[in-house]
Amino acid sequence: MEKSQATQGILDVHKNTRYYDDAAQASAVALFWEGNSAFLRMFRKLKCDFIVELAVGKGRHVPMYMDRASKVVLVDALAENVAACREMMGDSPKFQYYVNNGTDLSELPDASFDSLFSYDAVVHFEMLDVWSYLKETARILAPGGRALYHHSNYSAHPTHVWTQNPHNRNFMSDSIFEHLADRAGLVVLEREAIHWGQIENLDSLTLLEKPAG
Ligand SMILES: C[S@@+](CC[C@H](N)C(=O)[O-])C[C@H]1O[C@@H](n2cnc3c(N)ncnc32)[C@H](O)[C@@H]1O
Repeated sequence: MEKSQATQGILDVHKNTRYYDDAAQASAVALFWEGNSAFLRMFRKLKCDFIVELAVGKGRHVPMYMDRASKVVLVDALAENVAACREMMGDSPKFQYYVNNGTDLSELPDASFDSLFSYDAVVHFEMLDVWSYLKETARILAPGGRALYHHSNYSAHPTHVWTQNPHNRNFMSDSIFEHLADRAGLVVLEREAIHWGQIENLDSLTLLEKPAG
């Protein structure tokens, strides 16, 4: 499937940015993986044996979970980010590096993964891409598999482009996300509001499950 102009625009902003250097600082990574972070609490509810990280960037989260996995698929629509992951993690058969089209996961087989997660990325995505990724999540997870999505809960301006919104959040809400997940065949197990910058409830963390039977 071709990328939309809006999807391409989001990717263009993610090229050549200082974000990755700042984000890779130990203190920035610790925000997610230490202490009483909501992300860590919900991540612990994923089984990590066969895991997909969507919109992995340059891979700062990978060392935090890779030792618990036997297969890790690192997906991003920017080739240079996937190349940076390969440089960091090497060519072990444990890792699959996947430059996708910004919309689907068509290279991944059906019903094959325990979990998929994405942090600090889907908040920026077009709603139509989120819908597509949710359908793909339902397709690639094994029954009983789970997904953890960090997504926007900002729906104040349906016609804005993402860069007009606080912290570049794209159009999405908890209820729209739950509706799309339901229609994709996933159930919400848990949700936690995330405050970003000074803005309360700007984002959410939602834990989804593909029903077992
Ligand atoms: C802000 S970075 C975060 C990277 C990583 N999740 C982290 O926490 O370090 C957002 C990432 O999303 C990727 N991205 C943007 N739009 C995408 C899309 N439609 N599909 C897949 N990846 C996308 C970008 O290339 C970038 O690597």
